[in-house]
Amino acid sequence: MTTLKWWQTALFYQIYPRSFADGNGDGIGDFKGITEKLDYLKDLGIDTIWLSPHFPSPNWDCGYDVSDYCEVAPEYGTLEDFKTFLAESHARGIKVILDLVLNHTSDEHAWFLESKSSRDNPKADWYVWADTPPNNWQSCFDGEAWTYAPERGQYYYHYFMKQQPDLNWRNPEVKQAMWDAVRFWLDLGVDGYRLDALGTIYEDPALTPHTVPMNLAELRRFSETAKTPEEKALVEKYWYDMFKNQWGGPQLHDLMKELRAIIDEYDGDRMLVGEDDNIDYMGDGNDELHLVFNFPLMRTEKLTPAHIRKNQKERLARLDKLPTRGWGCNTLGNHDCSRVYTRFGDGLHDAELARVNAALVLTLRGTPFFYNGEEIGMTDYIISDPTKLRDTMASWYYEQLVNELGVAPAEAAQRAGEMTRDKNRTPMHWNNTANGGFSPANVETWLPVNPNYAEGINAKDQQDNPISMLNYYKRLVRIRKQTPALIEGEYKPVHEKADDYVAFLRYTPAQTVLVVLNYAPNHHELKFSVPDKKTARILFSSAGRSKKDEHISQLSLGAFEVLIAELA
Ligand code: GLC
Repeated sequence: MTTLKWWQTALFYQIYPRSFADGNGDGIGDFKGITEKLDYLKDLGIDTIWLSPHFPSPNWDCGYDVSDYCEVAPEYGTLEDFKTFLAESHARGIKVILDLVLNHTSDEHAWFLESKSSRDNPKADWYVWADTPPNNWQSCFDGEAWTYAPERGQYYYHYFMKQQPDLNWRNPEVKQAMWDAVRFWLDLGVDGYRLDALGTIYEDPALTPHTVPMNLAELRRFSETAKTPEEKALVEKYWYDMFKNQWGGPQLHDLMKELRAIIDEYDGDRMLVGEDDNIDYMGDGNDELHLVFNFPLMRTEKLTPAHIRKNQKERLARLDKLPTRGWGCNTLGNHDCSRVYTRFGDGLHDAELARVNAALVLTLRGTPFFYNGEEIGMTDYIISDPTKLRDTMASWYYEQLVNELGVAPAEAAQRAGEMTRDKNRTPMHWNNTANGGFSPANVETWLPVNPNYAEGINAKDQQDNPISMLNYYKRLVRIRKQTPALIEGEYKPVHEKADDYVAFLRYTPAQTVLVVLNYAPNHHELKFSVPDKKTARILFSSAGRSKKDEHISQLSLGAFEVLIAELA
């Protein structure tokens, strides 16, 4: 496995710093807390941390509105605390990549304060300004995309909230300033970046209006109320049409090449992973991003075997076509979407399906990413009191529903609670004491703690329980690490018509591994035929099997079983 880079073999884990571990007992996660939990991550088998933004921010978008790119948010600690965290991670062999928000800054960033102060200041052209709104573009978070700044009597553009003005990336000074920030953290030793919302960096220069006959709030509402297949298809079309002129500018390739060149100046194979599923942003396989997420895998209402097979077929074929073969990157959850356990459950077998899905991410070809809390089976927690929401796009939507669209407050609260990303960002559960052990008992945490920490969904109880979700994750991770074919092997689907289960081979010249993931409560008697292979030596089974070796033409698969076997 020596030819692979570290980011190809590593298991990544996303830490959402506000909710991961509260080291100073103020109800908000911080670097002291994260550093104290590094041994937990090491024990889980994590190789790399992706840290969501840790920079100073007024938190209109939970840190994705950065007001200083070269500092640490005071509630998370100091730059010294960050350096300690980085050193302690590296000391344990854990790498760290940061979140880099390129498209926009906070409206409280010094650059924007200067830019909006007049029309002729040195940073006047650092953001996107217009005398009057030049079109009907919407912000994907809070209504009109153009907001008036009285100081200079002009409108600025923002793809996200009005507190997140878009930078003008056509201005070389902007690039220079941002590249300085990029180098700042690389010089401190971070191992790379996850690039936030990169597709939104360049808009259509012709500023072509959208053609959807509604505004953002109306479209959200329409999405919730659409019932027929025709209406649902229209919803999808409208979402696409509303924003298609606001992202995807082709100049992004040159920008990514520039950034890649900076990254490559550093030793240690620093890396970039883009928050985008477009494989084009991997350039020729060597000159843009190292990885882009396989979002199409998770963008489905139901994870079915047929969906998974189709996804793999398309993705891998596309990666294989790059001049330098591309590497996949699989994930099922992050801070922007409903938790895997809830979203891909069926209400009856949620725990079983969560286990099958963990196995999926760990056995497909590509680098796996987990989101913190997934490993203990954390679930969504619907916050039904709108005053407790911290995700301001949801508060905005609540206000719109009640004040503009005439929806009753109780229903609006329900809708906002369902659409908000707060539900999947609640504090991590460390043990079965008050506040799930995240913060001391008497402290009000920044988002409420999901009370189901008391029902066994917490790290401590699960550490002590051999059949817990946490120990299941650990066993699977260990198997992945011990099985070269699962990391570097080719992928070949078998039994491609099966409705209930996915089955595939991962193989190298030296090793062939069969993976079978049963997504259904049904048992199956399976026959596989693979040239030169007769025996399946069981490496992992979620359904206790008595025999170590079985015949591949006679394998019985249990309900929701995860079976990983080396063929001989
Ligand atoms: C990305 C982030 C999301 C954020 C948005 C704007 O999609 O993942 O959390 O709100 O960018 O920065």
